[in-house]
Amino acid sequence: MIPSDPTLAINGGKAVFAENELNSCVPVWPTPHPETEEKLLEIYRNGKWGLCGKYEKLLMEEFAAFQDTKYSIWMCNGTTTLECALLAVGAGRGDEVIVPGVTWIATAQAANYVGATPVIVDIDPDTMCMDPVKFEEAITPRTKAVIPVHLYSALANMDEINRIAAKHGIHVIEDCAHAHGAKQHGKGAGSLSEYGSFSFQLSKLMTGGEGGCLTTNDERLADLTFRLSHIGNSTLFPKEPLQTGLECHQYRFTEFQAAIIYDQLHHQKEYMAQRQASVKFIMEFLKDIPSIKLQKSAFEDDERDYYFFSFLLQKDFLKDGIERKDIFDMIRAEGIALGTGWGVPLYKSIVWNLPEDQYIKKDTFHCDDIMANRLMCVMHPLLRAEKSVLERWATALRKVMLACTK
Ligand SMILES: Cc1ncc(COP(=O)(O)O)c(C=O)c1O
Repeated sequence: MIPSDPTLAINGGKAVFAENELNSCVPVWPTPHPETEEKLLEIYRNGKWGLCGKYEKLLMEEFAAFQDTKYSIWMCNGTTTLECALLAVGAGRGDEVIVPGVTWIATAQAANYVGATPVIVDIDPDTMCMDPVKFEEAITPRTKAVIPVHLYSALANMDEINRIAAKHGIHVIEDCAHAHGAKQHGKGAGSLSEYGSFSFQLSKLMTGGEGGCLTTNDERLADLTFRLSHIGNSTLFPKEPLQTGLECHQYRFTEFQAAIIYDQLHHQKEYMAQRQASVKFIMEFLKDIPSIKLQKSAFEDDERDYYFFSFLLQKDFLKDGIERKDIFDMIRAEGIALGTGWGVPLYKSIVWNLPEDQYIKKDTFHCDDIMANRLMCVMHPLLRAEKSVLERWATALRKVMLACTK
């Protein structure tokens, strides 16, 4: 149902943005950095295109420090990193790996790739991250590992997840694909458990086109995952011989990716601060509207970024008969757009091809309800637009949400 408010563009009122106007106001992503061009040319000319070159080695140190860990191991993407972390903690056939129902399929597929069974549990309705209570309820004697996801940069409650995992002797791997630079209780994402798995795929907050990285504080795990992803070789401890008996992969990273990400690392804090300020600015326009709430991070003092700037509709405060699709129509008429992330929980994704007997799905009420009815989000590049653009964007959303609120 569309409210009859005549000021709404859908009812003939003046739209806040002209058609396609907003696209030209959002900065290009990824942001080009002039200093990177020189590095790429340097690499191209010197022929050291891979096999742990200068920039990969610099990244290994500096990204680890950035996330408050001792080690960072670089791979070709953030799916192989999850797979290697699971292999390193010994997950395999007969084991179960607990994952949240809202995430990219890689989180669960990684378990499948190592022969384990993904067990999908519900999310917390405020953070959209794994609900620790549901995690504990899903534990069986076969549970080997849990992979909480810091979804859309909101951090999962790692205090509870670590406490429960320790009680049951379960390995914890944080999926930090959306959490570059984030901190919980002052400690970096990826340092809060045994492993942090980062993705540098094109849409991510830091990107090399593709790329992945595992962070850890554990020297043995760092060496093991390096070998697992580099067909048994180690540059961490190069004097040690090739290790036999390891099921190793060739998941190497290139020096071109390393150079691009190395420069981005030095901009991430500044960009994150800009996105945080933009969110604060926009939320001022929405603070008196109870029908729309920002997706929360687990703790008030979490230092988080915004891979997706995500809202959750509060249905009790919406006028009767108004559904999310109506709101999408109204805001589109105002010249802005919001989406639904991946649109569905992972087990409903068209690329989730696991037969039903190869995974376990627990009760997933909030995953289904949020993805079908409540989530509205926009990707991070908007948050680096100029203040005047953000003001108009917030005005458009405010106008629609006011018309929809009881
Ligand atoms: C939550 C999450 N985990 C893992 C991945 C996998 O990363 P990649 O695409 O680099 O393999 C992604 C990527 O989209 C993701 O969003």
